[in-house]
Amino acid sequence: MAATTTGLDEGRRERLAAAWGRDAALEHASVAAFARWIVELLACGAPPALVSAAQAAIADEIEHARLCFGLASTYAGRPLGPDALPVTPAMAVSSDMSQLAVSTLIEGCVGETIAAVEAGYAVAGCADPAVARVLRTIAADEQRHAALAWRALAWALERGGAPVRAAVTAAVAGLRAPRIDAEAVADPARGRLGAAERRELAATTLRAVILPSARRLLGRREADRASAEPQARV
Ligand SMILES: [Fe+2]
Ligand SMILES: [Fe+2]
Repeated sequence: MAATTTGLDEGRRERLAAAWGRDAALEHASVAAFARWIVELLACGAPPALVSAAQAAIADEIEHARLCFGLASTYAGRPLGPDALPVTPAMAVSSDMSQLAVSTLIEGCVGETIAAVEAGYAVAGCADPAVARVLRTIAADEQRHAALAWRALAWALERGGAPVRAAVTAAVAGLRAPRIDAEAVADPARGRLGAAERRELAATTLRAVILPSARRLLGRREADRASAEPQARV
């Protein structure tokens, strides 16, 4: 079933197509981000369970890009698809465990957690069943990707010791909600949140979910280490 376009004028259809096309391009870029992350996990000796979960996430991101391009095409009234992905120096692969932990925190624990919350929030107000189905799929998958990122961060903290812990502690202290640009259209009934609403959701998720979880994870590692140290004799 395709998204409903009845009653939409051409300008509105183009804006909805632009909004979904932008999301589709970001999903497409996530495919490359996961591919790079897998190489970094391998380079840092990550357990196979993390690597195979990351590989499964690549298939999810390909599907998200396909679903978002599908909605963009419906609104545009013509087929739209991915362009060649620009490969930037920021996508270079690193084998440094601290760098892996910090990028996992920012792209996964922050980015995927906010993406999951946004999609879940958008589906709640969406009145178009075809769009709601896409949002539900994305929300469930991004939630799984967020959980994977938190597991990977826990592993990196465990494995990497003091230098990784120091790098993650500094990164957590400097965490800010990601920049959210203006939206082409705000139309909650069609699953599109406005920029102001997205910024507020991102800030709330950072404050109420991400920062407490990160601090708890860092605190837990501290507590584990303290309990593993030999007790002083009295
Ligand atoms: Fe995605
Ligand atoms: Fe994702």
